[in-house]
Amino acid sequence: MASLKHFFVTLAIISYLGSLSNAQLSPFFYARTCPKFPLIVRSVMKEAVSRELRIGASILRLFFHDCFVHGCDGSLLLDDTANFTGEKSALPNLNSARGFDVIDTIKTRVEAACNATVSCADILALAARDGVDFLGGPSWTVALGRRDARTASQNDANSQLPPPFANLTTLISMFAAKGLNARDMTALSGAHTIGLAQCFTFRERIYNDTNIDPSFAIMRRATCNVTGGDSNLAPLDLQTPNRFDNKYYENLVARRGLLHSDQELFNNGPLDALVRTYSLNDEAFYDDFSVAMVKMGNISPLTGTNGEIRKNCRVVN
Ligand code: HEM
Ligand SMILES: *[C@@H]1O[C@H](CO)[C@@H](O)[C@H](O)[C@H]1NC(C)=O
Ligand SMILES: *[C@@H]1O[C@H](CO)[C@@H](O)[C@H](O)[C@H]1NC(C)=O
Ligand SMILES: *[C@@H]1O[C@H](CO)[C@@H](O)[C@H](O)[C@H]1NC(C)=O
Ligand SMILES: *[C@@H]1O[C@H](CO)[C@@H](O)[C@H](O)[C@H]1NC(C)=O
Ligand SMILES: *[C@@H]1O[C@H](CO)[C@@H](O)[C@H](O)[C@H]1NC(C)=O
Repeated sequence: MASLKHFFVTLAIISYLGSLSNAQLSPFFYARTCPKFPLIVRSVMKEAVSRELRIGASILRLFFHDCFVHGCDGSLLLDDTANFTGEKSALPNLNSARGFDVIDTIKTRVEAACNATVSCADILALAARDGVDFLGGPSWTVALGRRDARTASQNDANSQLPPPFANLTTLISMFAAKGLNARDMTALSGAHTIGLAQCFTFRERIYNDTNIDPSFAIMRRATCNVTGGDSNLAPLDLQTPNRFDNKYYENLVARRGLLHSDQELFNNGPLDALVRTYSLNDEAFYDDFSVAMVKMGNISPLTGTNGEIRKNCRVVN
């Protein structure tokens, strides 16, 4: 039953892909030029997740932050240099985005198998998918053929990635600016079923928000003081922080969302019903998450002869 369901979801995704204008992306893009690519990503991700479960979350977030700034073009992966300031040091990423070493490991192995063929942007797309899979989440077909950017914009990373203090109106419009609707946004936010957040991102919520379960607020205050401990970590999903399931939505219904932005999805607003549905039906969440991940992965890719295939994900060729 589950596999039949998966079959139809896959069909839906493939037919959605066919309907896109950027039809250059294809699941079979490297089938002849680098057939081992998906297996290499999978094996490195498997090792990485078994070493540290959180890495699946960290890589998923890298993909989100890459796609939201100038499209899924590997721009986030570029290191700052003396004359180049990129996205890595933008506020949402600085001392926060992590997992770049895993992308480097994948790149090294992929270059050894088929040099100058596979983009860093595509590595990120597959790695994010596999990380979710290894943490018990859904899987989906990833269309490939993205190329890597030669530039990045710190300003755009600062202004186009949603902040954790945002209200629902702002969240909806920031996703809409990327071609993602409120349903996509609600499903994608379920990524917060895994991973950790730093105290400074939820301090105001646990001390000042009113739509929060009081015992949850007290619990979180224990490791996130009014002052100090800015980088102390707490799980985004207090129930199963290393499992990609629908507990995130259960938490929201119980007013136990960690970030202000999380709880905005369930705050007597238009998305309450959808949050409730996902909280009761993990298949509904998985199906919508998979479709939305494919949509996010299709934000403005560089294709054809645009961009380049970077040799090292951290520097332009
Ligand atoms: C809806 C708007 C969103 C906001 C405001 C937001 C904000 C945040 C913040 C503040 C953190 C903690 C960062 C830190 O403390 O260092 C975080 C972590 C995370 N975010 Fe989001 N996020 C959003 C949407 C998404 C989406 C769409 C995805 C992926 C599809 C995602 C995936 C993650 C993951 C997996 C983590 C944990 C990372 C780790 O443990 O290394 N987020 N997010
Ligand atoms: C950046 O500066 C270095 C010297 O500091 C120079 O070699 C390099 O060509 C410059 N790169 C770009 C892209 O301007
Ligand atoms: C790829 O590898 C081949 C043989 O190992 C080498 O001759 C070639 O220069 C490499 N191409 C690039 C772009 O690095
Ligand atoms: C949401 O936040 C934006 C930006 O901070 C603000 O302009 C707007 O008034 C807020 N909307 C609501 C409904 O609170
Ligand atoms: C809570 O709100 C008050 C009044 O706006 C503010 O002074 C205080 O700094 C806030 N506390 C936290 C922890 O954000
Ligand atoms: C929290 O901060 C207050 C005031 O800065 C301080 O008195 C208290 O000891 C701190 N608590 C912890 C657990 O660090």
